[in-house]
Amino acid sequence: MKISIRLVVSLIITVAAVVVSFSFYSVIREKERLVNDLERRTVVLAESLKETSAPLVKANSAARLNRLVKIFGDRERLKGVAVFDARGGVISVTPSLAPAVSNQIPVVVDSLTDKTPSGELMRIDGKKVYVFSMPILSDDQPIGALALFQDASYIDARLAEIWRYNLIRFLALSVFIVAVTLIVVRWSVEGPIALVARWIRDVRTGKGKPHYPAGIPKGTMLEPLISEVTFMAKSLAMARARAEEEARLRFRAESLWTAQRLKEYMLRELGGKKLFLVSNREPYMHTREGRAVKAIMPAGGLVTALDPVMRICDGVWIASGSGEADRETVDADDKLRVPPEEPAYTLKRVWLTKEEEDGYYYGFSNEGIWPLCHITHTRPTFRLEDWVKYQEVNEKFAEAVLKEIESEESPLVLIQDYHLALLPYLIKQKRPDAKVAIFWHIPWPNPEAYGICPWRQEILLGMLGADLIGFHIQIHCNNFLDTVDRFLESKIDWEQFMVVRGGHATLVRPYPISVAFENQRESAPRQDRREIRENIFKEMGFQAEFLGVGVDRIDYTKGIPERFRAIERFFEKYPQFIEKFTFVELGAPSRTHIKRYHDLISEVEELADRINWRFQAGSWKPIVFLKAQHSHRTIERFYMASDVCIVSSLHDGMNLVAKEFVAARDDGDGVLVLSQFAGASRELVDALIINPYDVEATADATYSALAMDRNDRADRMRRMRAVIRENNIYRWAGNLVTDLGRLRLSDNV
Ligand code: F6P
Repeated sequence: MKISIRLVVSLIITVAAVVVSFSFYSVIREKERLVNDLERRTVVLAESLKETSAPLVKANSAARLNRLVKIFGDRERLKGVAVFDARGGVISVTPSLAPAVSNQIPVVVDSLTDKTPSGELMRIDGKKVYVFSMPILSDDQPIGALALFQDASYIDARLAEIWRYNLIRFLALSVFIVAVTLIVVRWSVEGPIALVARWIRDVRTGKGKPHYPAGIPKGTMLEPLISEVTFMAKSLAMARARAEEEARLRFRAESLWTAQRLKEYMLRELGGKKLFLVSNREPYMHTREGRAVKAIMPAGGLVTALDPVMRICDGVWIASGSGEADRETVDADDKLRVPPEEPAYTLKRVWLTKEEEDGYYYGFSNEGIWPLCHITHTRPTFRLEDWVKYQEVNEKFAEAVLKEIESEESPLVLIQDYHLALLPYLIKQKRPDAKVAIFWHIPWPNPEAYGICPWRQEILLGMLGADLIGFHIQIHCNNFLDTVDRFLESKIDWEQFMVVRGGHATLVRPYPISVAFENQRESAPRQDRREIRENIFKEMGFQAEFLGVGVDRIDYTKGIPERFRAIERFFEKYPQFIEKFTFVELGAPSRTHIKRYHDLISEVEELADRINWRFQAGSWKPIVFLKAQHSHRTIERFYMASDVCIVSSLHDGMNLVAKEFVAARDDGDGVLVLSQFAGASRELVDALIINPYDVEATADATYSALAMDRNDRADRMRRMRAVIRENNIYRWAGNLVTDLGRLRLSDNV
């Protein structure tokens, strides 16, 4: 209310100031106009009277002058006329004015002295009168003067009327402004503030949801405040959920890994040591959208898995800066704090030239090692110039890491993936006290398949610089040890799963990567599943009874064409699902400068078109291929709304889509169809496991998923959720960091 009073008072003062200035100006102008008009009329009258009176003055004819002044007395605004002699003495005057008109009226004397007409306003009997004196000359000498007395009181009346009118205008304006201000303040400020306050209280007390409150339109001045509070409320909800989870676990003495537990554990186990994480792909890249710069999280399991870990461990993530606006957002050290909305750790960007990116990333990493490690019948291509760039870029990363760990004693360095195979060796060579691990996110092939790489020994030597090498599953560890055994002089300890070479030991262990299961619920407040589904179909412009989803980077290892062919076969075998089931593929274009990837997009599009052409009816379509970098929020809506999620990788280290789908289904429903060639199939045994090359079996599995009994679905989902809940990303990080932290390097050398 105080604000309203202040607002109203300031508005009234402003209006008053404007009205007074305006009135003042009008009055001056009006007065000027009226006086000028009066003067003009008086001069005309005086000129005509002078013609008559001048001979009478000259002739000193007082009687005739008296008659004249009597005739001109009291006519309309002319109050009277007087005739003066050359010294200003009254000769004759209109009788009604006689008592007030004396000798030596200053304006008359002035006109006689100057021999020019003169006029001024004066008061006679308390009334304003305009007196105009005109000298009567003979041989250029004044012989008398004629004075006209005009009533000027109407000027004051007119000016008073202006003031009065503007006062009324001011009062009316003030009442109007006060009323409008109070209504606007009530509707647009006090009302929404009261609503927001109620919403904040509900969220604080756990009665409300931390998402945009109903009843407050978007785009108002409260929106920034609401989005900040929403964010705070979400953090609060997450913290509350974590605390409840901790309490529950303490109560049940369970050993579930949570974000909080990992945080405490890191503090205890590592004495608060920072973590240095290195990967090719950065967790946040800055892109341009019109004039605005926007941070996006790139598609891919690596960043999805590791960002939650870094958020709680702090530390430095060193990665290549690949966003078009990346350079604008870093400081002089090429660093920035991320995530942008809640900074928790440091991202240091390494800059690569076009040639380096071409040879190291597209060439050696993704046309060489990627197909080498994935047995998907796409031939690896090895070029010497790519290998040279791969080595140079690994050295560039090594330089950046060494600079960061310069002042750290025995730092922990966690290297990610096949882009940086040489980095462990390059770091350990300079910093033997560093504890270095490399985690390989993709499969490791058998020695025969690996053996075709012209630089097979160099890559192994680079990796064996690490103290710890991690793969997702045991079979990849076995393949790796077999490979080392085949191509290097070394001692393999099959009991310890260790390679000893040149006095340095490297442990090789499986760490199945996962998702931050406990955060799923709070990260996006759940809408009703039916509502999400309805909205999705509304957006697609048709309806269907069943919905399926696939989420992938568009990569030939993901088995997308195989999946589409299985869906085609499904409609052939089970035509009762035509017009009832739609499969949505959320495909993120990836590595498109490589021809194989570029061609794959066309292949997938053509396949979807062909199948759609064959089965579509009315507006219904069997396959919807949505090609874009989809946000986590969009993907989660599809996870929630779908009856089935199909993961048909031809070969995959882990595949976090499978785990994300399960983690998202807190309604306990939904069926996962999962490739036996994805690492996730080792843990998610309650999925419908398929061989994606077997089109018939995949079509049948899709049918089984849609026809599955509700209880069976719920049982399977419950068991899969228990597995992921237990084996979440915090356990992965906890296990990896513990093993690395507890290594005694002195044993190695
Ligand atoms: O999971 C394997 C991986 O190469 C990750 O290292 C990477 O984050 C992801 O796939 C996406 O690939 P890219 O970084 O080439 O876009």
